[in-house]
Amino acid sequence: MDALYSPDANRYTNGMNYHRAGQSGVLLPEISLGLWHNFGDVDTFANARAMAHYAFDHGIVHFDLANNYGPSAGSAEENFGLLMQKSFSSYRDELFISTKAGHDMWNGPYGEWGSRKYLMSSLDQSLRRMKLEYVDIFYSHRFDPVTPLEETLQTLVDVVRQGKALYVGISKYPKEAAKKAYRYLEERDVHCLLYQGRYNLLNREPEEEGILKQAQQNGTGFIAFSPLAQGLLTNRYLNGIPSDSRMSKGVFLKENVLTQDLLSRLTALNEVALRRGQTLAEMSLSWLVHQETVTSVIVGASSVAQLADNLKATENTEFAPEELARIEEILG
Ligand SMILES: NC(=O)c1ccc[n+]([C@@H]2O[C@H](COP(=O)([O-])OP(=O)(O)OC[C@H]3O[C@@H](n4cnc5c(N)ncnc54)[C@H](OP(=O)(O)O)[C@@H]3O)[C@@H](O)[C@H]2O)c1
Repeated sequence: MDALYSPDANRYTNGMNYHRAGQSGVLLPEISLGLWHNFGDVDTFANARAMAHYAFDHGIVHFDLANNYGPSAGSAEENFGLLMQKSFSSYRDELFISTKAGHDMWNGPYGEWGSRKYLMSSLDQSLRRMKLEYVDIFYSHRFDPVTPLEETLQTLVDVVRQGKALYVGISKYPKEAAKKAYRYLEERDVHCLLYQGRYNLLNREPEEEGILKQAQQNGTGFIAFSPLAQGLLTNRYLNGIPSDSRMSKGVFLKENVLTQDLLSRLTALNEVALRRGQTLAEMSLSWLVHQETVTSVIVGASSVAQLADNLKATENTEFAPEELARIEEILG
C-alpha cells in the first residue's frame, strides 16, 4: 500500500523561478522534468515516483512526455497515469503536462509521422494511458516531409478546438516549416505556445539556424531538451563509463561519441564549473537558464540525487564575461 503523498507546502517558495512562454499567459518553471528515460516499465516505479514527487515538491510543475516514452513505448505515460491517480489527482490544475506524437509508435501505416489519422488516435491513446481529460500542450514531435504540413497543423488546431489540448507546439521542425506552422496556426487563432528543440553547450543548432530568434519573434517560447547532452555534460563520464549509465545501455547514447577530444573538453569545462562552485551538470543547466530566449529546460534524471543537483543550477545563473569566453574557447 502506498503512503499517501502530501506535497511540500513550500513548493512555490523553494527558489524555483517561472518564465513566460513567449507571448502567452503561461508561466513555466525554469527547470522541467522529462520522462523519456527512467519512467518506463523496465525501470523501478518507486524511483520514478520519488523523482516525480521531488520535482513537484520543488516547484517543477511541468512534466514532459510523449506517446513513445518508455521502454516499452507508452509505458512512461502509463506510469505517469498511475502517478496522476495516486499522487497528483488533487493537483491537476497545478500541473502543466505535455505529450507528443510523431515518432514510431505502433505497427502499420498509421503509427508514426504527421497524418491526422495518426495524431488523433495517438492523442486519444495518450489521454487514456495518463488518465487525463486533456493535456496542457500537444506537440507534433517531428516534421513530416511527406504529409502536407497543412494536414498536420490543422490537426493541431482541431485538438485544441476539441478540448483535448489547451495549447500546441512543434518539435525539431526545420526553420522554413516552423515559419509556415507559426503562420498557419496564428491565422486560425491557435498560437504556437512552444518550440521544443535540442539545445545545450555542445549543440548550438537553435542559435546557429536562427530557430531561437524566429520563435522569439513569433512570441513562441523555446523549451530545451537534452540540456546535458544525455549525460555527457555532467561528471558521469569524466572517469570512464559507469555500468548503470545511459551510455552503457548503448541505445541512445553510443560509446563512440566519447572521443578523447570530447573528453578533454568536458574535463576543461568541469574545471570552469568547479571554479564557479558548481558541478558540470549545474553549470551546463545554468548556462541555458541564463539565456533570455529559453523559457524552460527539460532535464532527464535517473535518481533523486541527480535531480537535486540539477535544481541547484537555478542558484547561480550569472556568468562573468571571462567565464563565457573560456567556455567558448574550450568548445572552440
Ligand atoms: N522533442 C524531442 O524530440 C525530445 C528528444 C529527447 C528528449 N526530449 C525531452 O527532454 C527530456 C530530457 O532529455 P534527456 O534525458 O536526454 O536530458 P539530459 O538532461 O540531457 O540527460 C539526462 C541524463 O543525464 C544524466 N544526468 C542527469 N542529471 C545528472 C547529474 N546531475 N549528474 C550526473 N548525470 C546526470 C542521467 O543519465 P544516466 O541515466 O546515465 O544516469 C540522465 O538520464 C526527455 O525526458 C524528454 O522529455 C525531447
